[in-house]
Amino acid sequence: MQASHPQRSRETDIKEFFASVRAHTEKLCEPLEIEDYIPQPVIDVSPVKWNIAHTTWFFEEMVLKQFVPDYQAFDPDFAFLFNSYYNSVGERTPRDQRGAITRPTVERVFEYRKYVDDKMVELLSEPPPSEGGQHAEHTNWPPAYAGGSDLADLVTLGLNHEQQHQELLLTDLKYTFSLNPLFPVYREDYAPVEVFDKETESFVDVEAGVYEIGFEGDGFCFDNELSRHRVFLEDYAIRKPLVTNLEYLDFIDDGGYHNSKLWHSDGWDWVNTNKIDKPLYWTERDGELFNYTFAGLRKLSLEAPVAHVSFYEAAAFAEWKEMRLPTEFEWEAASDKFDWGLRWEWTNSAYLPYPGFRKSAGAVGEYNGKFMINQMVLRGASVITPPGHSRNTYRNFFNPHLRWQYTGIRLAK
Ligand SMILES: [Fe+2]
Repeated sequence: MQASHPQRSRETDIKEFFASVRAHTEKLCEPLEIEDYIPQPVIDVSPVKWNIAHTTWFFEEMVLKQFVPDYQAFDPDFAFLFNSYYNSVGERTPRDQRGAITRPTVERVFEYRKYVDDKMVELLSEPPPSEGGQHAEHTNWPPAYAGGSDLADLVTLGLNHEQQHQELLLTDLKYTFSLNPLFPVYREDYAPVEVFDKETESFVDVEAGVYEIGFEGDGFCFDNELSRHRVFLEDYAIRKPLVTNLEYLDFIDDGGYHNSKLWHSDGWDWVNTNKIDKPLYWTERDGELFNYTFAGLRKLSLEAPVAHVSFYEAAAFAEWKEMRLPTEFEWEAASDKFDWGLRWEWTNSAYLPYPGFRKSAGAVGEYNGKFMINQMVLRGASVITPPGHSRNTYRNFFNPHLRWQYTGIRLAK
């Protein structure tokens, strides 16, 4: 423990964390025109306006209404409008109609953010009571307990939630922009840096044994990273570099999308029903392959790690290579032996609770647990994951057909 005012310095940290995360969201909006905030072309993709309002809603519903006596909501209708999936908070806008909410205006949503920010700063500036009372756990920041319901836990969860939506804001926007025949530029200079180890076919051998999986230590984690537990792994090898666009192109050229033997049954249906023959955002012009990026349409970089592929595609590619995807446990146990962070890496693990996992009692109990069905786990982080938001125990999850996130492939055998 520090010698002087450790408690004060922790409180300053959470206030700084709050200010920096909230400011970062608004920074991401700077290149946008007002029209960019509204569209929702498909159900999975939310409008920018909804993303920036919903992250604010989280603080109003989960924090301010619980911890500020006689809190006056900015607008009582927003509790309904910007609820995502919390049944215990009440009714909400149907997910596929988020783009239809043209009012409140974008300007009013920014006023909502400002109102909630001011109230949050007031709340976080209050001195904690000496003992007992709602703010007694103030001294806990950070770390916060995943799934906990005291003030520190909920604010920390809210900030991590907003960071998740920062990534979604960008990937949702990219998807919407990609449908525009003019291929809009988000930012001319916005080409996330991809430092990539090109050492192909380099595998790390991992010995069979008992490994500990799940979060441990100080700092924040989501409830789905708990509890830490043991797994037994057989001998395996995991590849150091991610699969590149060039390798993926070889799979396409070898007829990968037309060979039913490589695909799961659901994947084969998905390929045929949706006429899939390349990763999302690849497009052919005059015999050349281009890729839609935040900086507009660019020639496909063959050396970059492949992105925007579904679990079905990742699994079929691995099958074609006569290899497989790692399980999430194999990934975590070897994660200090390769570089990660450029792509969310599909694993061959279904999204299931760890032993000892418990949903918390309040509304935040709906955060992760109820989604542990019909989804696959992705490990790592992506080039647009906010700084400080990744760790080797982080469990991302999506339905196997989805590919608007920066999803990629790492091989195992
Ligand atoms: Fe959310």
